[in-house]
Amino acid sequence: MQGKRVVVLTGAGISAESGIRTFRDNDGLWENQRVEDVATPRAWEVNPGRVWRFYQARRRQLSEVEPNPAHEALAELSDGLEHMVLITQNVDDLHERGGSQDVIHMHGRLETLRCEASGRYERRMKDSDLVDDFLECDCCADPQRVRPDIVWFGEMPMHMNEIYAVVDACEVFMVVGSSGHVYPAADLVHIAQANGAHTILVNAEPPLNVDYFDEVHLGMAGELLPGLVQGWLAPSG
Ligand code: APR
Repeated sequence: MQGKRVVVLTGAGISAESGIRTFRDNDGLWENQRVEDVATPRAWEVNPGRVWRFYQARRRQLSEVEPNPAHEALAELSDGLEHMVLITQNVDDLHERGGSQDVIHMHGRLETLRCEASGRYERRMKDSDLVDDFLECDCCADPQRVRPDIVWFGEMPMHMNEIYAVVDACEVFMVVGSSGHVYPAADLVHIAQANGAHTILVNAEPPLNVDYFDEVHLGMAGELLPGLVQGWLAPSG
């Protein structure tokens, strides 16, 4: 892996061992809610209070969870390689707290809130920012309501030009903890493989797009990744 252009894409599975529930492992519900009721623009239009309270609970949860050995292993990998880009579908901050820098959050972030009028986002994690009442922006003369800075179903993921550019150019593409259900993220491995990259999977079970991976490691990311990373960073790895 040394000297190669490496791209890593992570999904909810990498944060599972930190205690953040994944989306599709159990009964189709996410933290007891149907995804359509809390993670779509329509839900925000029809019942903004429910959506807001749901995401405020997710934002408060960040202080109760810690990065796990899989997040730390990816930070170590990035430190040990010349060219690695980390893309995540996760909205938590566990990669950053596990030591990774410049993480590309394609589905948004929990720590920031976005002004509905200007589209500007800002880090808002003080206690007064974590309440169940709606909050207003600091950017408009007439303060406007803010929304979660999250990409909901039906919205365009963030940073896609940059993501396609690095995936097109990569020589190794690895996915950790993603079920391959949600596009365009699920398609990135296909693009990488079509361009000749070596593709690696670390996941608890075979995802929908398992056929696009050259190397498959099935198991818990927190248990598998530290050893894999050590091997890749070893002089002959
Ligand atoms: N280690 C590795 N893989 C795991 C672990 C673990 N400890 N625990 C669960 N997994 C695997 C599951 O087997 C599953 O294949 O992680 C995957 C998680 O899949 P999803 O819950 O579908 O999460 P993800 O692929 O990230 O979802 C994509 O969907 O709801 C949207 O925007 C949301 O970013 C999210 C997107």
